[in-house]
Amino acid sequence: MSSSTVITNIATLVTNDPSLGDGSPLGLVRDAAVVIEGDRVVWTGDSSKAPATDNRVDADGRAALPGFVDSHSHLVFAGDRTEEFNARMSGRGYTAGGIRTTVAATRAATDEELEANLTRYLSEALHQGTTTFETKSGYGLTVADEARALRIAAQHTDEVTYLGAHIVSPDHADDPAAYVALVTGEMLDACAPYARWIDVFCEQGAFDGDQARAILTAGRAKGLHPRIHANQLSYGPGVQVAVELDAASADHCTHLTDADVDALAGGRTVATLLPGAEFSTRAAWPNARRLLDAGVTVALSTDCNPGSSFTSSVPFCIALAVRDMGMTPDEAVWSATAGGAAALRRDDVGRLTPGAYADLTLLDAPSHVHLAYRPGVPLVSGVWKRGVRAV
Ligand code: NIG
Ligand code: FE
Repeated sequence: MSSSTVITNIATLVTNDPSLGDGSPLGLVRDAAVVIEGDRVVWTGDSSKAPATDNRVDADGRAALPGFVDSHSHLVFAGDRTEEFNARMSGRGYTAGGIRTTVAATRAATDEELEANLTRYLSEALHQGTTTFETKSGYGLTVADEARALRIAAQHTDEVTYLGAHIVSPDHADDPAAYVALVTGEMLDACAPYARWIDVFCEQGAFDGDQARAILTAGRAKGLHPRIHANQLSYGPGVQVAVELDAASADHCTHLTDADVDALAGGRTVATLLPGAEFSTRAAWPNARRLLDAGVTVALSTDCNPGSSFTSSVPFCIALAVRDMGMTPDEAVWSATAGGAAALRRDDVGRLTPGAYADLTLLDAPSHVHLAYRPGVPLVSGVWKRGVRAV
């Protein structure tokens, strides 16, 4: 039999089950305990009523919440883009063109270098409370380089996304249609075995609405589920294509018309907001309040990548979303846990109720609100991933 652990004396427990505790969407239980058996949560409730177990951990008045679900990152890459960031902070704008710099560095890197880089950013994320993460290809843009990125990513997560359609490969700059044919043909065949998702950067300078639809549809025919980079730098068709194809998530959602918001509210597609990108590109913030008030499901993620958002910190993104995007601390914490799970169409992560994976983050603070209230402070003092203490 697997061993069991009870974590007691949790001042504030975020369960994300509204039928528990205070009845809010976060299902807050005060003076709580969680019982873990093997890799799952088996019991959640009042600390005084916790059943006896093999091991006991005293949270000593700390807050606990589900491990963060970072549903959007680009972690298979080499090099960095310090100069580009410096130039932006001196007034230059962000364009998708910088992606080519990372493509060149990534192609030149060995498998071992890519693996070491990925492991480093995953460790950063874990120490900041992330227990589930999605990551993408998109810095290879050849059949071999995209398949290699996905193979490396798949050794670390089930949530792997094929993004051969990040930009038109520099090798096909004169013939974008030929690149789309490659992405939907030979490259897709080589990449599909390693991936769960297919993504496309639908934006001026990358792929238009018709190309995005064709790419996502081709992926779906190979068993991949669509998600999309949509409406990041400008208004455009991305969100509408996402809802039309029942994509799990439309990511960025910075420039939205009323029709885009209505489409999201009327479908199942989650709007994933990535405030690290607006921070690092000094762009206007996405309006989370508008989406939430329309009834759209919102996720919050890092978009960790060396160009537009070089942060692996979900707590940082929560603080930005609360301060600048109109979210309450409760909403931001929900979006970074249950929201991320929804964006990955998962119900086994992002909540701390019986049956869910025992992915739990302990804060050196009495409440989850401190994630926004104490920005920049390393509050994560313990992390359990699949029932095992990892931090
Ligand atoms: O999500 N928008 C497209 N892709 C990334 C940026 C990648 C880069 O600049 O390297 C993003 O922001
Ligand atoms: Fe991205």
